[in-house]
Amino acid sequence: MCGISGVVGLKNISQLLFEGIKNLEYRGYDSCGVAMMNKTHLIIKKDVGEVEEVYRKHNILQQKSNIGIAHTRWATHGKVNQNNTHPFTSVDGNFAVVHNGIISNYHKLRDQLNKEGYKFVSETDTEVIAHLLQKFFKKNRNIEKALVRTLNLIEGTFALAFICTYLPDHIFCAKRESPLMLGVGDEIKFVGSDFNAFIDYTKNAVILDDGEYAIISRDSFTVKNVLNGEEIIKPITKIEWDSETSKKGGYPHYMLKEIYEQPQTISNALDLENSNLDQVVKMFAKAESSYFLGVGTTFYVAKYAQYIFSELTQKHIPPISSDEFLSLANVNKKTLVFAMSQSGETFDTSSALKYSRSKGAKTAAIVNVMGSSIARMVDEVILQGSGPEICVISTKAALSQMVILTLLAMKLGLKDKVITKKTYQGHLESLKELPGIIQGILNERSGFIHRLANKHCKNKNWLYLGRGIYYPIALESALKMKEVAYVHAEGMPGGFLKHGTLAMIDDDVSSIVFVPPEEKKDLYQSTIHSIEEIRARSGFVLGIHFNEQGKNHQLFSEELILPNVPSLIAPLIQLVIGQLFAYFTATSLKRNVDKPRSLAKSVTVG
Ligand code: F6R
Repeated sequence: MCGISGVVGLKNISQLLFEGIKNLEYRGYDSCGVAMMNKTHLIIKKDVGEVEEVYRKHNILQQKSNIGIAHTRWATHGKVNQNNTHPFTSVDGNFAVVHNGIISNYHKLRDQLNKEGYKFVSETDTEVIAHLLQKFFKKNRNIEKALVRTLNLIEGTFALAFICTYLPDHIFCAKRESPLMLGVGDEIKFVGSDFNAFIDYTKNAVILDDGEYAIISRDSFTVKNVLNGEEIIKPITKIEWDSETSKKGGYPHYMLKEIYEQPQTISNALDLENSNLDQVVKMFAKAESSYFLGVGTTFYVAKYAQYIFSELTQKHIPPISSDEFLSLANVNKKTLVFAMSQSGETFDTSSALKYSRSKGAKTAAIVNVMGSSIARMVDEVILQGSGPEICVISTKAALSQMVILTLLAMKLGLKDKVITKKTYQGHLESLKELPGIIQGILNERSGFIHRLANKHCKNKNWLYLGRGIYYPIALESALKMKEVAYVHAEGMPGGFLKHGTLAMIDDDVSSIVFVPPEEKKDLYQSTIHSIEEIRARSGFVLGIHFNEQGKNHQLFSEELILPNVPSLIAPLIQLVIGQLFAYFTATSLKRNVDKPRSLAKSVTVG
């Protein structure tokens, strides 16, 4: 969602503030704004556009100040225009506020403030905060008290930060359900939606919890509890990520860089074999019922988990999209709810986990971002160690999660004697081959996939078909295509074709089929059957298969032949093809790959 960055230091922080908000741009990028202090008055610059564009247009780097806050927006309330861009100032111009989240009672507050004469210039929920601060400050001339009164009045979710002319060397901030953390350097302090806002300058972070507010100045920070005003001694979290891994490193886009990092991130995932996975396996074994939980890409990861657990264990575990959890799940003390989340901040997923905890269920999660809300909330967390995923579109995080889930299924299967020690060892060897095979594919097949994508980038509709465990691969690959290339794509199981979808096959509908290795006899045969059904109607089929014997022009319109691999890892390899095909289609169509329209990383609102 939106990104918040703030800096207070000894000297001019203009450049640091720019870098901080630029590094958070993946959270939202339809407009950007800053507030800085010029001795005693606020300088506000904001506009529609990406961070660099807005900075250039308004010469923001020329502004000099030792304190500032910035915001990059992903619109939820109100159109994308300059008026609706953060920061918002109070009517008297003394408070400037940035906010991420949704103030759910803002209509009521707005009506009330309007009656009291506070003039609104935007359609946003955030603006009420600026006016409330002014209103309460007027009463007792105490900024902290004004903040607490405001926090007690606003409902919903928020991470917010503000500066004000009355205390021009301090940033005030607070959070409820949206992420916010402090960066603690020598004679410089930061606030940010995540580490990326300050990782280049300090690796010491203080992660704020719900119901806390903080006041930071150049050489101090104080965190307090909103309810009783008591000071809280917060631990410093050392950020283990290297800021270099957050840079593009010569790749044209983060998406491509992150796809290419997968051999490494899968190795990192495999290194977890001897970590706390056994603990989580025990939780699965003990639970009377379990659910896999995720949303968007991680829902498809959850679907993959369903298949791999059905194959290797005695458990059939339904996946639930986090946003549908309350309607579907039936949780009690004997339930395990197992979530996947790259960011660890996704609102729908954390809400479902909170609900489960309130019912006494056990919770566990695979999370990429250490210190994130979900990582801290669950009973057992597996930190996947994939490093920062900056591109809005998830690639390496999802694939690593699938690898970890495969390991978990193998371990549970072994424990429950569904698979033998020998099979376990064989599967482990197969998984260990995965980084090398993916590296080979990236080295040798990217050019071909690029040409293929270029040739077919004008295709208007794609059906992505897979059967069995290839079905979640089809769903996830179709999602990549929609997200990054804005091309209509639908994932479905091959068996669905003859229940209606075949009627759609014509020159405007092309299909991509994920064909399993031939050794998976039934799955292979039924997939081939689906292809024949499409070809019988002269439909275009791009087949992605492992049959190295050679070309099969009759069956496929186009084919992408992969090396023979163990069947356990075949779907994971095909997912990489799905990622690359979407990426190259997007570049052929000149899409804004790392910042696709209408998508934001870390969806922290419901
Ligand atoms: C897809 C994508 C989103 C996320 C979803 C969950 O490429 O990025 O669909 O997968 O918003 O996010 P996390 O994994 O951060 O909980």
